[in-house]
Amino acid sequence: MIHDKNVIRGMESLDDAGVYKLSDELAIIQTIDFFTPIVDDPYDFGQIAVANALSDVYAMGGKPLTAMNVVCFPINKLDISILKEILKGGVDKMMEAGVTLVGGHSIDDAELKYGLSVTGIVHPKRMITNAGAKVGDKLVLTKPLGTGIISTALKAGKASKETVAKITKYMASLNKKASELMQELEVHACTDITGFGLLGHACQLAQNSQVGMKVHSSSVPVFTEVVDFAKAGLCPGGLKRNREFYGKMVEFSKQVPDYIQDILFDPQTSGGLLISLAPEEAELLLERLKKAGISEAAIVGEVISKPQGKILVV
Ligand code: CO
Ligand code: CO
Ligand code: CO
Repeated sequence: MIHDKNVIRGMESLDDAGVYKLSDELAIIQTIDFFTPIVDDPYDFGQIAVANALSDVYAMGGKPLTAMNVVCFPINKLDISILKEILKGGVDKMMEAGVTLVGGHSIDDAELKYGLSVTGIVHPKRMITNAGAKVGDKLVLTKPLGTGIISTALKAGKASKETVAKITKYMASLNKKASELMQELEVHACTDITGFGLLGHACQLAQNSQVGMKVHSSSVPVFTEVVDFAKAGLCPGGLKRNREFYGKMVEFSKQVPDYIQDILFDPQTSGGLLISLAPEEAELLLERLKKAGISEAAIVGEVISKPQGKILVV
């Protein structure tokens, strides 16, 4: 494999985005994300897919600039007006983010999928990765958990309209403001919470940073509706895979009930940022996030030295 020294984040890191240094002041961030619909409304789905795709750039402290549509559409099965609505939701969200759509690619496919390939910029020295968490740091999470379990409930016809509207609002909301606020402080590490759930992404952060972590389950913000669904055993396939794969890196204390463990492993779509920074800075960040309307943000744990690469949940 060719090794270009300007690739400062590549395949070997567990980050979702690649970073290429163009000069001492400028690096480009590249990332791609697309998936099948998780809500029924095409416009909402477009908004969520774009917020989700841009999130990796925000997690790195970068600024997304341009994007290309990635579209798979069953042209003989679905009406083209559905695609138009999806793309409209996407473009509106890109406008909100200040991102310009510069092209895209679409194919006929059995199953509908939509997302973006995104290009952003960051100062190479101010790039935030998931590898810099320091012992003593506090961990701030910016959005509540539970979108995977609630989407599963929706597919089973069990989630109310109000519940779906609520999670849609969160999934469609950009991590832009949270990213801007964290960049005002000295952040040691950050990742966005997506398919591997809070604990999966926390494991990656711990392993890449060569530290351990303690998560206080009662401090973790969750959608209130998710508790009943989790208790009823509604469980997306991705959640089981996360538990299987990351379970060996997580130690739960006895008082953490099984349904809470499920929620902590729940795969998120367009989840919040998990930010690692010194305790005083974490308090300051939390205050500023709340002032900016990111009211569910919370300090959910801290970085510890041992056991390295593991997460203790109490
Ligand atoms: Co991603
Ligand atoms: Co990510
Ligand atoms: Co093409």
